[in-house]
Amino acid sequence: MGIFGQGIIYKTTAEIEIMREAALVVSRTLGLVAKHLKPGVTPAELDRLAEEYIQSQGAISGFKGLYGCPSTLLISVNEQVVHGLPTDTPIREGDIVSVDCGAVYKGYYGDHAYTFEVGEVSPEKKKLCMVTKECLYLGIDACNTANRIEDIGYAIQQHAEANGFGVVRDLVGHGLGKKLHEEPQVPNYGRRGQGKRIQNGLTIAIEPMINMGTWKVKTLPDEWTIVTEDGLPSAHFEHDVAVIDGKAEILSTFDYIYEALKL
Ligand code: CO
Repeated sequence: MGIFGQGIIYKTTAEIEIMREAALVVSRTLGLVAKHLKPGVTPAELDRLAEEYIQSQGAISGFKGLYGCPSTLLISVNEQVVHGLPTDTPIREGDIVSVDCGAVYKGYYGDHAYTFEVGEVSPEKKKLCMVTKECLYLGIDACNTANRIEDIGYAIQQHAEANGFGVVRDLVGHGLGKKLHEEPQVPNYGRRGQGKRIQNGLTIAIEPMINMGTWKVKTLPDEWTIVTEDGLPSAHFEHDVAVIDGKAEILSTFDYIYEALKL
């Protein structure tokens, strides 16, 4: 989902501080989800918890109502890549579950995601999640003023493909601010040294979506859920970053998740 074409909107330090608050509302929401994500819980139950929590923080759901999205969380299980609508189908031991969440706080969006391992998962799924999270941090490292936008995707793609995984092409990271999707698009693939120069004040969501098999995806008949074409699992991690003093500062945090999971 996304509407582009208005140019990059660089943010002031004051705006970035509000965006950090928005991102942290989402971070704490994901921490709450982590606490409740056990075999037997349903995505619909997690969605209700998340919506109530976001409202308790003086914020509103970032996704619900946007582009017709019916939910606060997008919950994508196993071969679902992203944009899974919360259902009443219980989560099972061994699933990997991507939870993507958005919130608007004081007019600015936070938007981030984590792929959870439910109980004991297969070593292959574990590796997929680990490599995808590494891809996220490699992309963040590449987000600096010595580089250009495609250097982010280049770093992500190199690491994913070196591990034999497929990089989703159809969905991309994005600028973030008063809108959920601003310029620029931030693909998770790319050529070195291509695209717009990265400048201070840039605020983007970096979100590798990495498949165990083919990079190809398709949309389910619900017109939301994106799944892998070959039915193999997919993982997704997302942080919000702001470029400050030449490098990316991460506005969101996984610390609430790690705390809940005792990692
Ligand atoms: Co996003």
